[in-house]
Amino acid sequence: MAASAEIKARFDAVSKRFGSGPDAVQALEPITLEIAKNGFVCLVGPSGCGKSTLLNILAGFETPTSGVALMDELPITGPDPRRGVVFQQGALFTWMTVHDNVAFGPLATGSTPAEAGRIADRYLEMVGLAGFARRYPYELSGGMQQRVGIARALANDPQLLLMDEPFAALDAQTRELLQEEIKRIWQDTRKTVLWITHSIEEALFLATDIVVMTARPGRIKARLSPQFALSRDPAVVASAEFVRMKADIFGMLRDEALAAQRQEAAS
Ligand SMILES: Nc1ncnc2c1ncn2[C@@H]1O[C@H](COP(=O)(O)OP(=O)(O)OP(=O)(O)O)[C@@H](O)[C@H]1O
Ligand SMILES: [Mg+2]
Repeated sequence: MAASAEIKARFDAVSKRFGSGPDAVQALEPITLEIAKNGFVCLVGPSGCGKSTLLNILAGFETPTSGVALMDELPITGPDPRRGVVFQQGALFTWMTVHDNVAFGPLATGSTPAEAGRIADRYLEMVGLAGFARRYPYELSGGMQQRVGIARALANDPQLLLMDEPFAALDAQTRELLQEEIKRIWQDTRKTVLWITHSIEEALFLATDIVVMTARPGRIKARLSPQFALSRDPAVVASAEFVRMKADIFGMLRDEALAAQRQEAAS
């Protein structure tokens, strides 16, 4: 198979500038990045380096200032149910039950109520919330709400999952359990994933590719291909290779965080 057939999405020299004149912010320098089909790409980088901007361009929520983002080699012109997005917090419909939140997408894209209901049941089961289908979001913990958000994104059967710090608001134990869960779901469903995190461990545990970004304006500083995404053993985090890569990425991010601090102090 030709190499290009394996690419699910890519950024071709994508840059982003917000605003104009002296107040303009150059969020991203031209970025070229390929996301392999079935890949799990983690973006890490200092706060404000443009990670969410990049993800939002792929989601179709933002347009690039120059360059183009493509999925299946077609330019992205707006949001599309083939791309599922999960944010750091909530974004659930508070007035709908958990079940109806998850069934919403399939209903909106033409499933019958019975089909949409079956789809919702299936994904709630997958994220371990079958027993909470009739509850409302406010009756759930933050971690459970995030799992509903993931089930809701999966229910549309997206080809590409775009996750912007989905676990950032969770406690460490819940986060680790959900990391194992998302790894299992990714391995079972073979989705393509773009995932933003500030946690180096999370990136190493989940990703087939880690993209380290520079301080703003964001560029790609390094790209690594850890070998832990296919492992289901939570003990991989203690392996020598894991610890070595963690130290490498930590060093890179520290340099960039210091650069970002200097930049903020100067502005
Ligand atoms: N809608 C907007 N209008 C103006 N500036 C924006 C907008 N969105 C983002 N920016 C600016 O673009 C830069 C990149 O922001 P972005 O949210 O992509 O960073 P990030 O890497 O996701 O940061 P964090 O890790 O804190 O979430 C920041 O300087 C931010 O202030
Ligand atoms: Mg962000």
